[in-house]
Amino acid sequence: MRDAPSCRCGIDDRRFPSFVLDNVVRRVLQPPRRFLSKYVRPGDAVADLGCGSGHFTIPLSRIVGRDGRVLAVDFDGRAIARLLRKAERHGLDHLLEAHTSSAAEIDFVEAGSFDFVLAEGLLCCMTDHAGAMRQIRRILRPTGRAYLSVMKAGRERDPRTVTAREWASILSDVQVVESGEGPFTRWALVHPHPAAS
Ligand SMILES: C[S@@+](CC[C@H](N)C(=O)[O-])C[C@H]1O[C@@H](n2cnc3c(N)ncnc32)[C@H](O)[C@@H]1O
Repeated sequence: MRDAPSCRCGIDDRRFPSFVLDNVVRRVLQPPRRFLSKYVRPGDAVADLGCGSGHFTIPLSRIVGRDGRVLAVDFDGRAIARLLRKAERHGLDHLLEAHTSSAAEIDFVEAGSFDFVLAEGLLCCMTDHAGAMRQIRRILRPTGRAYLSVMKAGRERDPRTVTAREWASILSDVQVVESGEGPFTRWALVHPHPAAS
């Protein structure tokens, strides 16, 4: 795989230094366990796409426990290395399968095998939105759910930006269970297939 996935216009997918995503201030402002326990149960199979260095992945592993499964994917190999070191320190590495890959290129993951997919801040950092959504829909069980969130800000012409119009189009291909928006982000909890009309 290329170092950073990019579109034909040469814009790379966005990576972040781990201290930006994984720090004590964020853990206080956005306590991961409280958020995740609304969606994830012990024994669940969960995929964290665009996992970074593990703000959510480590708590996910704790919640699903030894009967569950956590797949973590990020194209940034340094984030994955840091996540694996953290998992080892917490004695959770045996629960975690981590891959350095674009979320749009995870054909190696079996179809219909996850109860929950987390894609927090992923789509707005990458250019191949359609590819990532195809994979999310593919790997979810029919009864599974995905939590998607994107930043609202971004230049219209930047292919990483998920505009309000594109967000509506993304949601039209799935079944929306809940959705909302804050000052900076839009989010939705979705089933993989559109509701039958
Ligand atoms: C805003 S960060 C969110 C990280 C993590 N979900 C969290 O909430 O802490 C976006 C993440 O997506 C990753 N990313 C960007 N493009 C990607 C791609 N094509 N495939 C997988 N991960 C990607 C970045 O490396 C970064 O870790």
